[in-house]
Formats: sequence, C-alpha cells, structure tokens
Amino acid sequence: MNDPMDKHEQAMRRHFHETAARSGFSLAAAQEAAVERLARLAAELARPAWTFPKPPRDLYVWGPVGRGKSWLVDTFYEGLADRRKRRLHFHDFFRRLHDGVTRPGARHDGRSAVDSALDELLGDSRVLVFDEFHAHDAGDAMLIARLFRTLLDRRITLVTTSNYPPGGLMPDPLYHHLFEPTIKLIEERMDVLDVTGPVDFRRLAAPSTGNGGRRFATGLCLPPGDAALDAVGLTVPAAAEATTVPVHLREIPALAVRGDLVWFGFDALCETATGVPDYLALAEQFTTLVLDRVPPLLEATADGRQRFANLVDVACDRDLRLVLIGSDPLANLPTSQSVTRDLDRTASRLAMLQRASS
Ligand SMILES: Nc1ncnc2c1ncn2[C@@H]1O[C@H](COP(=O)(O)OP(=O)(O)OP(=O)(O)O)[C@@H](O)[C@H]1O
Ligand SMILES: [Mg+2]
Repeated sequence: MNDPMDKHEQAMRRHFHETAARSGFSLAAAQEAAVERLARLAAELARPAWTFPKPPRDLYVWGPVGRGKSWLVDTFYEGLADRRKRRLHFHDFFRRLHDGVTRPGARHDGRSAVDSALDELLGDSRVLVFDEFHAHDAGDAMLIARLFRTLLDRRITLVTTSNYPPGGLMPDPLYHHLFEPTIKLIEERMDVLDVTGPVDFRRLAAPSTGNGGRRFATGLCLPPGDAALDAVGLTVPAAAEATTVPVHLREIPALAVRGDLVWFGFDALCETATGVPDYLALAEQFTTLVLDRVPPLLEATADGRQRFANLVDVACDRDLRLVLIGSDPLANLPTSQSVTRDLDRTASRLAMLQRASS
C-alpha cells in the first residue's frame, strides 16, 4: 500500500484532475485513459535510472486536431517534479538544430555538428516531451531519425503528440519510404495511445472562455474597414508608422509597432521568404500580431499557405494573440490534400478566434 511508485502516480493523477477542474474541463474518456498511462510513466520516471535495465517505454499520443493532446503532455510536463526534462515543439526542434549547426564555431563535419546540437538540446534530461510530431520531407526524416538514435543511446524517454498514427507519418508517397525505418522503430519502442474522441475542444469552447485563460484564444478575425477596427479599439497604421522589425538573422518590414503589438501585411510576412525561426523571434518580442490584407488562402501561393499555417502553429504554441484582417482565410478551400495539407490544424486553431459579426 505504501509503494512509492503509487505515490508519484497518484500525485500526477491528482495534478491532471486539479488542472482540468481549474479550467472547467471534464476529461473525455480517451483523455482519462491517457492520464492513467501518463501517471504511470511519471512513477516510472521517478525511480532511480540505475535500478532498472531499461528506461520507461516511450509514449506516442495521436488523434485528430483539438482533442486535448497538447494539453495532456503539457500538463504532464508541468507536473513532473524532476527538472531533468525538456519540452520541444516540432518547430523549435528544427530551429534549434539548425541554429546549433550553423552557429559560428560549430563543427562542420556534418554528422558531429548535428550530434553536438542534439546534445545541447537534450542536456541531462531523462524525458523529452515533443509536441506535434510530423515530417514532410527528406530533411525532416533525416533529423528525426537522428533524434531517435540519440534518445535510444542516451536512454531518454520520449513522449510525443501527433495528428497522424505512426504508419501515416510522412504522408507524401514520394518520401514515405524514407521514413519507414523510423515508423518501424516507433511501432516497436513506443506505446501508441489513440485519443480520437468525438469533440474538437477548440470548436466546442465559446471563444475567449473556457480556454484556460490563453491569450491566443482572445485573437480576432476581422473584415477590412475602419468600422471593424474601431469596434475593437484598433486604428489603421499611418504611413509614418512603417518600420522594420528584427527577426531571425535579419529585419522585415512592418506596418507598425505599438508596444508589444506588431502589424504586418500578409504579403510581407507570408509571401516572402520568411520561416518558422522568424515567427518564433516575433513571438519572443511581441504579444499581439496583426496580419492585415489576409486573402482567402486559395488565392495565396502554396508557400504562402504553408507559411501562414506555420505562423498559426507558432502563435498557438507560444500563446501569441493573432488579429487577422481581411478575407476568411479558409473560405472555399477544396478538399484536395495537396492544397490542404496541415490546414485542418490551422482551421481548428482559427476556430478559437472571435469573428466580427458584421
Ligand atoms: N477535456 C477538455 N475539455 C475542454 N477543453 C479542453 C479539454 N482538453 C483540452 N481542452 C482545451 O482544448 C483546446 C485544444 O486542446 P489541445 O491544444 O491540447 O489540442 P490538440 O489535440 O493538441 O490539437 P492539435 O492536434 O490541433 O494540436 C485547448 O485550449 C485545451 O486547453
Ligand atoms: Mg496540439
């Protein structure tokens, strides 16, 4: 009865239920099952590593958008008392590896530069929480395979979330075969938890309520025109407010900077060669990002659409308030996979923004 494993397991279970109660959530059945598994993992991680021949088994939590996967793994992460833990979002992973490899002084024999960047990223952690695990091209496949090998070597337990079941990762038939060895490894090493429930919680929650007080959920989708802006206390930037904003390794033009708010035209941010490291840099400097002249995404270029989807991912993960002005970006999207790749995630996130009724 006095098993110390039980003590850690119970503490984590309690932490989940208290966190859910504070936000007014009732957990879905699939989430309850995941809570049990994560509570057990917390207890396993609390044992001294040297007392067991193998590290605790990895966990792969997957399901459609908005099922509370990030909530589950973030709550688990917060509840772990041991500080030997790391949390990464998909986009951080690639930025940090890229920065590590390209930093002056990094070794340039390719392989060891990636390895030392990974070393730095993982530190002395025993558990890595990796939110939003997906892969779309050969470069992703290589880096993720390398991550897996390093985690194995260093006996680090991986807890990850994904919108794809393992076999569905890297959906592009052109690259899928490159990822098959990693898929095999995932299926062998990881306990796969399916949290597919009937509800996308983002669409269920009334905008700006019930979302755990997140800034992202206070974002707006506005039609163009002074009236809509007036109604929310915003004014169109004057020409004299135009400025440049430092992002990753350079500067980009903004229509205005007002304190912790930055205002961009869609084209300057999404139709030029910006990338996730730039959006992460913006999220570090600002709390509100206004994106003006948003077109229906169907009219944007394929790169523009992908950048917009990445921007929304970063804004949601980093809790940045987004104010979109223009057309409904998701209007009339066809169902063709080549156009909508990852846009179901974008749609679920944008459902949290408040829409002007006019
Ligand atoms: N049981 C619940 N009841 C109500 N809201 C919930 C519940 N669980 C999570 N949420 C909230 O629902 C929203 C979506 O959850 P979360 O971001 O964890 O989804 P996700 O499964 O990670 O989605 P995605 O695949 O798009 O990343 C968040 O605001 C979260 O706080
Ligand atoms: Mg998520």
